[in-house]
Amino acid sequence: MATPTCVLYFCVLVFFVSPSLSASNEFPKTGYISLPINIDPTTHQHFTSIGIGTPRHNMNLAIDISGSYLWYDCGGNYNSSSYNPVLWDSPQCPGPEPFQSNCDAGFPFKPGCTNNTCNVALDNPFADFGFGGDLGHDFLFTPQIKLPQTFFSVCSESSRFPQLPILVGLPKGTKGSLGLARQSPFTLQSQISSSFNNVPPKFTLCLPSSGKKGHLFIGGRPTFSTPLSQIGFDSRYSNYDYFFHLNSIHINHKPVQFNTSGLSVDLNDNVGTKISTLHPFTVLHPQVYQPFVKAFVKAAKTKNMKRVKKVHPFGTCYDATTVGDHREAVPAIDLVLEAEELGRFGKVSYEIYGHDSLVEVKKGVLCLAFVNGGIRALDAVLLGAHQLKDRILVFDESTSIISFSSSLVHQNKTCLDPTSL
Ligand SMILES: *[C@@H]1O[C@H](CO)[C@@H](O)[C@H](O)[C@H]1NC(C)=O
Ligand SMILES: *[C@@H]1O[C@H](CO)[C@@H](O)[C@H](O)[C@H]1NC(C)=O
Ligand SMILES: *[C@@H]1O[C@H](CO)[C@@H](O)[C@H](O)[C@H]1NC(C)=O
Ligand SMILES: *[C@@H]1O[C@H](CO)[C@@H](O)[C@H](O)[C@H]1NC(C)=O
Repeated sequence: MATPTCVLYFCVLVFFVSPSLSASNEFPKTGYISLPINIDPTTHQHFTSIGIGTPRHNMNLAIDISGSYLWYDCGGNYNSSSYNPVLWDSPQCPGPEPFQSNCDAGFPFKPGCTNNTCNVALDNPFADFGFGGDLGHDFLFTPQIKLPQTFFSVCSESSRFPQLPILVGLPKGTKGSLGLARQSPFTLQSQISSSFNNVPPKFTLCLPSSGKKGHLFIGGRPTFSTPLSQIGFDSRYSNYDYFFHLNSIHINHKPVQFNTSGLSVDLNDNVGTKISTLHPFTVLHPQVYQPFVKAFVKAAKTKNMKRVKKVHPFGTCYDATTVGDHREAVPAIDLVLEAEELGRFGKVSYEIYGHDSLVEVKKGVLCLAFVNGGIRALDAVLLGAHQLKDRILVFDESTSIISFSSSLVHQNKTCLDPTSL
């Protein structure tokens, strides 16, 4: 049996190893690039991996759907011979008043230490200070393609500001974040769309649950058989974030009454709902949180779910043995979304079942995975990663439409294998 094994081994080498060694500069024939998504099991936050520079530095980056840039910490010994800073007076440096960064005498040239450089403001929602980074060009590597050296990314030299923990709150082991915001020419989806013919400014997320792997597809996407619902972006609240109107919240098919006064409300009494991949759990404005929890507790009581002592940061927790193996006893939550101004959609329901509404905080204890935003809450609903995971979410800037599937877990599927979706 030695010969067939050898032949097989040879075949594997030829057909599987060689394509990955040749970092191609051509856009994949599938029409999309695919980046892996992992989850940090303790913080429930998601991250991807990408290669940057020469020599190639592989790093994990948090996925930030509200971020305008791909940025990384280039502190310490980081260097790249293919890095070129963008000058602050170049038309590529975003205005209206470009900020200039310089590097003091004595520090040798490297990414993050160059003169007359375009410095841009970065955003880490967990940092209570502002910080920036240098806009530059360098090679970016994805599993399928080496992107041209002209691609933009931002490097922030953390060792120049040791008192500012720029990576605070981001998933453990990550070095920055990969932004996917709307209307930013610096995101991967817009740079890819403007660099390659017939590739739309579009991305698809399938965020995995604990212990599993997911995908970020940029450009096109694989063909799925899973049905998708559609809703338009709402650009009245923000130019960069993905917002939509929340018409109402239903628990067990009954609307939850809440006071919308003081929330960001439009003329039709819809309230602003924003997507945030960096927040592990959905954050509700206190005026929404209190009646929401009250209605959930009431509905759960009729299903004989037994409450146990709460575990921070959650307000309501249950004895897992009263919930059922497949969490079928958990009251269904529906976010009823609306985007009437586009004239194309009516109301669409974003259904949240037990796997997404509850989270296991310790053995035998499941908590309602929504947190109270308190006095600092800006949005009525900040839809977080635990309620976004295990679904196909397609964001298409060319049509201003978000398409989403219901929970894959509910259909006995996972994000792992895109061809099975
Ligand atoms: C970084 O790399 C560049 C180009 O290879 C080199 O000129 C420079 O001296 C390096 N900087 C440091 C701090 O090693
Ligand atoms: C930046 O400019 C300053 C002042 O001219 C100079 O001392 C320093 O060496 C320059 N730094 C780099 C990295 O070129
Ligand atoms: C709604 O909230 C506003 C502001 O918090 C408050 O002034 C008002 O009395 C509330 N209305 C009701 C019906 O509770
Ligand atoms: C998923 O699997 C569970 C348990 O094996 C089964 O009860 C349920 O009917 C399945 N659901 C679907 C949609 O196939």
